[in-house]
Amino acid sequence: MKKILKWFVYGFLMILLSGFIFYLYAYFSTQSRLAHVYNIDTPPFVLQTDSAILAEGSRLMTVKGCRDCHGEDLGGKLWLNDPMLGLIVTPNLTNGKGGLENYSTHDWLVALKHGLSKKRTPLLIMPSNEFSMLTEKDLNALIAYGKQLEPVDRELPKSSIGFLGYLLTSLDAIPMIPAEKVDHSRQLTKFVEQEVTVEFGQYLSVACEGCHRKTMKGGSPVAPGFPPVADISASGNVGTWTEAEFIRTLRTGKTPEGKMLKQEEMPWTITQHYTDVELKALYLYLKSL
Ligand code: HEC
Ligand code: HEC
Repeated sequence: MKKILKWFVYGFLMILLSGFIFYLYAYFSTQSRLAHVYNIDTPPFVLQTDSAILAEGSRLMTVKGCRDCHGEDLGGKLWLNDPMLGLIVTPNLTNGKGGLENYSTHDWLVALKHGLSKKRTPLLIMPSNEFSMLTEKDLNALIAYGKQLEPVDRELPKSSIGFLGYLLTSLDAIPMIPAEKVDHSRQLTKFVEQEVTVEFGQYLSVACEGCHRKTMKGGSPVAPGFPPVADISASGNVGTWTEAEFIRTLRTGKTPEGKMLKQEEMPWTITQHYTDVELKALYLYLKSL
């Protein structure tokens, strides 16, 4: 009896010890990934701006999800505040109090196209692996608009990763360090014509890839507690919908089958701002798969 108890205690201590060692590994490996300084070589970016470009930049801030994360006024917010996962703060992108200081066009480009800070270390969470696929024209519009934002005075705390955040990051179960998924040597495409074409649809579908995968066939949930991701290629429900039904779904969140999509799982409050041309192009692309 005593012997069994002894082995039980040993076993328990071993489990605790290996858990602790794994945590140490997760902590230090993540810290070292976050401290990595990327040596990137991005050619200078000549910023163009006029009122049409600024209007497009403002629209892109909505449809590319910037306002969703950085707040409606782009003044930043506590994006995630979870004792286990951590505190993730989106910075104030304006030049008000607590905002970006001495932030050049090049710094904007490095953040969006490479997912890196001014110091060239990885930014947390921001999906730059998607933004790095944007055209020069779209990046130009976003940066031009970003640089002239109405100042917002908002001082926010610094982000800090929690216990579970470190474990999930080291298991690559959450997209904590998107810079690692960026092809840093990729050259920018000038622009893609905004027309109802498969090409334009494919360009827009990069925004769906993070969840629906490159194939658009969906799969397992993107994070614990979320539903499986639907197949939106021609082999899924979308294949049976008319263009009008597709557009209505992405504008209202209600599918032709009568299902109400939750905006925190499937961000239709973002796609509702897409233009008709954008939604038609996406439909064309998805049906072609
Ligand atoms: C999923 C949420 C999310 C989305 C979407 C997002 N961001 Fe971010 N962004 C963040 C977070 C979080 C940080 C801070 C990362 C850090 O502190 O390491 C950040 C950082 C930045 C920075 C760098 C600031 C700095 O201090 O270097 C800029 C610039 C920026 N975002 C602009 C944008 C723009 C423009 C868009 C839309 C095209 C956008 N973000 C979309 C979450 C997001
Ligand atoms: C943050 C993750 C996420 C992103 C980004 C995302 N989706 Fe979804 N989408 C989902 C999930 C999860 C479901 C399934 C929801 C459910 O079953 O309730 C879904 C469902 C759908 C549906 C309904 C499919 C059906 O059969 O009912 C359509 C259509 C759709 N998404 C289109 C898109 C398009 C187009 C984009 C890009 C512009 C996109 N989604 C971006 C997560 C996402």
